[in-house]
Amino acid sequence: MNAKKSADSKVIMTELVLPNDTNFFGNLMGGRLMYWMDIAAAISAGKHCNAPVVTASVDNISFESPVKLGNVVHIEAFVTRAFHTSMEVYLRVWGEDTTRQFKYKSNEAYYTFVALDPHRKPLPVVQVIP
Ligand SMILES: CC(C)(COP(=O)(O)OP(=O)(O)OC[C@H]1O[C@@H](n2cnc3c(N)ncnc32)[C@H](O)[C@@H]1OP(=O)(O)O)[C@@H](O)C(=O)NCCC(=O)NCCS
Repeated sequence: MNAKKSADSKVIMTELVLPNDTNFFGNLMGGRLMYWMDIAAAISAGKHCNAPVVTASVDNISFESPVKLGNVVHIEAFVTRAFHTSMEVYLRVWGEDTTRQFKYKSNEAYYTFVALDPHRKPLPVVQVIP
């Protein structure tokens, strides 16, 4: 199997924070953001290995700045390491206030995904060119 570049698995997902996404303080709920991050990371891992993937673990999520109601969320994800059947995906999250025209870093995290074959058994993945 030919190795692939990290850039080949890059995904940028954009969402608008609506009232149903927020907590009592008008900030995006952490759980909702983690859900969006999981989807962005799964798409990225799937692009790398060209197979269905499942989330194996989520490491080191830290919420630095809240994302406000009405702001835009940009989630950038790409595969940083490939092991045998598992892949590490790095995520960076930015908030954007489109009215006042500035962006701010919200958080970052590493997710691990495992590729599965049609029998739902772990499937070897291609290596990553950093
Ligand atoms: C992840 C899963 C496929 C691993 O299956 P398994 O039978 O334990 O397979 P293995 O022990 O052969 O491990 C396969 C790979 O997964 C990795 N892995 C397993 N559990 C892991 C964990 N908790 N965190 C990180 N990696 C993990 C192993 O290190 C191995 O990686 P490698 O092949 O690159 O060395 C299985 O545990 C599973 O289906 N989990 C549920 C996934 C899911 O439903 N996610 C949605 C959230 S509930």
